[in-house]
Formats: sequence, C-alpha cells, structure tokens
Amino acid sequence: MPPDAPALKLIEIAEGKIRLRIPDLSYYGGERAEPAWAPVFYNPAMRVSRDLSVAIVEAYARLAGRGSIRVCEPLSATGVRGLRYAAEVAAVKEVVLNDRNPLAYKLASANAGLNGLGDRVSVHNREARALLAEFAEKRERFDVVDIDPFGTPAPFVEPALLALKHGGLLMVTATDLAPLFGVKPRSCLRKYFAKPVASEFSKEVGARILAAFIVREAAKLGLAARPVYTFLSRHSLRLALVVERSKSKAYRAVTRVGYVVYCPRCLYRSLEGEPPKEAKCPLCGGEVVVGGPLWVDDLWDREFAQAVLEAYRERGYMSADGLKVAKLIAVEAGKPPLYTTVASLAKLATLKEEPSPSKLVERLSSLARTASLTHFDPKGLRTDLQPRELARLLAAGL
Ligand SMILES: C[S@@+](CC[C@H](N)C(=O)[O-])C[C@H]1O[C@@H](n2cnc3c(N)ncnc32)[C@H](O)[C@@H]1O
Ligand SMILES: [Zn+2]
Repeated sequence: MPPDAPALKLIEIAEGKIRLRIPDLSYYGGERAEPAWAPVFYNPAMRVSRDLSVAIVEAYARLAGRGSIRVCEPLSATGVRGLRYAAEVAAVKEVVLNDRNPLAYKLASANAGLNGLGDRVSVHNREARALLAEFAEKRERFDVVDIDPFGTPAPFVEPALLALKHGGLLMVTATDLAPLFGVKPRSCLRKYFAKPVASEFSKEVGARILAAFIVREAAKLGLAARPVYTFLSRHSLRLALVVERSKSKAYRAVTRVGYVVYCPRCLYRSLEGEPPKEAKCPLCGGEVVVGGPLWVDDLWDREFAQAVLEAYRERGYMSADGLKVAKLIAVEAGKPPLYTTVASLAKLATLKEEPSPSKLVERLSSLARTASLTHFDPKGLRTDLQPRELARLLAAGL
C-alpha cells in the first residue's frame, strides 16, 4: 500500500494520460526557480523527452513482439516517466519505480495510487545500483530499464545491463552535455574514456561517444548492445539500445567502435575504424583533429524509427515538439553520418547569406544526392558530399 502523501507543498498537474502531484515550484523558489531546487525533481520541459520515450517503449513492444513488459525506472523522482509507461503502453504490465530520496519515494507511491496503478506499480526507496543488482541476482530481470539521472548515466549503465532480459531495451539519458559535446573534454575523458570534438557536428559526436561507452560496458559482460533510437531534446540526450546475450555479437559490436577525423580548415570529416596514421587532411593537407573512441555504426534502426513515429502519431495528446523530432528522425535514420550546417557551409563558400537547410536538401535530392535534415540542429543537414564539395556547388549557384 502506498504510504500517505508526504508533507510537501504540492500542486496537481496532468501529463500524458496521467495526473501527477508535483512540488509547487513557485513556493520553492519563485518564478525563476529551477526544477532541481524543489525537494522532489520534476521538469515540465522534459515532457517532450517523456512523450518520445512512451513512443519508444510502444515501438519496442511491437517490434520485439512482447505483449507483457516489465519496466524498471530506478531514478524515478515523482514517478512520472514509469507511471506514463504503465498508463500509456498497453504491453507494459508491471513497473518498478525507485528513488533514494525518501520524499520522492513517498510522492511516487502517492502518484501511483492517484492513477489507480497501485497494483501494477511497486515503489522502492533504495540506492539505484543496489536495487538493480538485487533484481539481477534474483533473476527477476526486466524487459526495459530506463536510466534518467542528473548528469551522467555512466555509473548506472553496468547494473542496468545486468538487470535486463535477453533482447531487452536499455534507455539512458545524459544531461552532462558540456563534456559530451566537447566543451569540457577532460570531464568527457574521465567519464566516458573518450575525446570529444568541438565542431559543427559535436552533438552527434556526443551521442556516438555515449553509444560506444554503453556498447563497451555491455561487451565486457558478454552482452551485445545495439542503438535503435537516439534523440536530443533540449538539455537531454537519450539513447535506446537493444541488448542481447551473445559474446560473438558483443565482439562484433566493439569492432564498430572507432574514431572521428575532422579537419577544422576545410571541414572534411570521416568515421574510421582505427586512428589515422597521418595527421593530415586528405583533401586540403591541413592538420586534422581526432576524436573518440565512438560508435561508428547507425544511431537509429530505420524500422524502429518508423515504428516510433507511428506510435507517436497514434497518441494525439502528445506534444507537437516531440512529433517534429520523431518526423525528422524517421527521415534522418539511415542517412550519412556527421551532419554539416548551413552556417559553416556559408563560411566555407564565403556566401553573404546562409542557404535554407530545407531548400538545400530539396536541391540535393533533386540532383539524386542523398540528403536530409537532422533533428540535432535546425541548421544541420546530412549529405554524402564533403563540405568542400558542397561549398563549391553552392559558390557555383546550387
Ligand atoms: C533527473 S531525476 C529523475 C527524473 C524523472 N525520471 C523524470 O522523468 O521526471 C533523478 C532522480 O534520481 C535520484 N537519484 C540520484 N542518484 C540516485 C541513486 N544513486 N539511487 C537512487 N536514486 C538516485 C534523485 O533523487 C532524483 O530524484
Ligand atoms: Zn581539410
């Protein structure tokens, strides 16, 4: 039975298909209050991320053919994420919530009761890694584990992997974007053992560094992790990976961890299996920078990306912002890696005005070139051309 609602200053809101009691932010910090100031964390801006995550769990249930799914959300705060999975994805039959903050534990329990989900949702008040290890040890593993921490997910990845069933889905949030995107490279090296690259595509590099970290954490346990969906929504980067118990697949996965080579002068970029022997750019002879180790394979499974879009569309109540992301991703999945931006192309081609990214994509497609926009950056585009070639075409009036 859920304990009584805690002595907090609460307001009631609705998100997705659930009602939720959350701390009254205006009481805890006034108008400019940060969600982290409240005694239990709830960030309304992360609704888009939760909408997309609901669609991801639905897509997973369908594609994996799982009609009865157990989810664990070991860093659940108010419980909003896990409760939404229970209320909005028919295949989700059981959810385990947890938070080491006793106030969060009480609030999540009250929120489960408020939505009549008390019989399918259990709430724990433990350290997340200890809880995951205990479920793994008892062989009560999960179909889905969703790690949604403050900052880096790195400390939670191994116990989450161990608590997953064969073929399960691991979802991970990282909000430590400064390290992953190359603003704090020392912190990236410490947490992810990788060197980021400050460039116009640094967001994708961050996603690839996080993916490689998870793939390697999995491989050492004899598990093969494969990214099926990746998105960036405001300050939160999310990855969803299917994890199989297979040493041979785990080996193959680590062979897909490599390096990015980038020339800051002509913007040449390439993903490579090995670090380059020459530090010279093959196009302009300039000095290249090398980042990684990072994931050099797909960040999306195309079928999965389509299924997420469908699941999102079926839920008319979800945010328009999330739909926009799901649509962009359904198209960018399978397109060339390492996007460029119209800002850097305009600079390279010494154009006075930046071209419109969508018009440029249209032009390239009409010339039978592979091209798409990217959800990572409103000015970004993916093409199979190196920026120097594209800049030449632009200068010639493409
Ligand atoms: C970013 S919040 C979770 C937000 C929530 N998933 C959502 O969608 O609104 C992270 C939560 O993890 C909890 N936490 C942090 N470290 C923990 C640990 N080692 N074990 C259990 N809970 C922890 C914090 O108390 C906090 O409530
Ligand atoms: Zn170059």
